[in-house]
Amino acid sequence: LGGESNAGALAGRKVLMTAGPTFEDLDPVRYLGNRSSGRMGYAVAQAAREAGAEVLLISGPVALADPPGVTVQRVRSALDMHRAVLDAVAGMDVFIGTAAVADYRPAQPAGQKIKKTRESLTVELVRNPDILAEVAARADRPFTVGFAAETDDVLGYARRKLEEKRLDLIAANTVGAGQGFEVDDNALTLLWPGGQQELPRASKAALARDLINVIAQRLHAPG
Ligand code: CTP
Ligand code: CA
Repeated sequence: LGGESNAGALAGRKVLMTAGPTFEDLDPVRYLGNRSSGRMGYAVAQAAREAGAEVLLISGPVALADPPGVTVQRVRSALDMHRAVLDAVAGMDVFIGTAAVADYRPAQPAGQKIKKTRESLTVELVRNPDILAEVAARADRPFTVGFAAETDDVLGYARRKLEEKRLDLIAANTVGAGQGFEVDDNALTLLWPGGQQELPRASKAALARDLINVIAQRLHAPG
């Protein structure tokens, strides 16, 4: 490891990914979003492509160019992303969920711009489907990889997500205070059932190559 090349590690494999934030509309001009830039996910898509995979990236709204050789399908909301993933997942070898999917959406998006007639405004939110957990629960599941962005007890929460969503691998990531979102460097801890590995602070491109190499190894690992 250490950001080394991974040519051929995923040759002939089909990889489905999500990346970026989702935007949840409140009315025709406003939405709820989050601080995901999509850069980690786009770096992983590019690394998977460079490793020889055929890559379909379902992307939320980001200001990034499509990685060369990667098929990018743009979506806006968590429900759009959910539909796009379920439409594409059959026959995939690997699913990597890097998107910062909104956990909640406005229950009733307004058809017209909301006016400031009242002193306070309460918006009811309802939970979005968990795309990653649904992929992992399928009978024909691909090798399923999640990300866990946490501000505290990072490894504890990540291990719990690995087990509760029955993932094959999770990449845990500390966010906030100059780490994780909106920055070029990152550090990850990879966790799988029965093991873990640190990927120390490096560029997102180098981390992405290491992550893809570990995915390729575990894909071939017995059990
Ligand atoms: N994820 C997803 N669909 C959702 C929410 C999350 O596919 N509706 C995926 C993310 O892409 C990520 C993983 O689940 O790979 C973990 O996301 P995270 O927000 O860290 O965890 P949650 O399960 O949403 O739990 P919480 O936000 O309460 O920590
Ligand atoms: Ca979440």
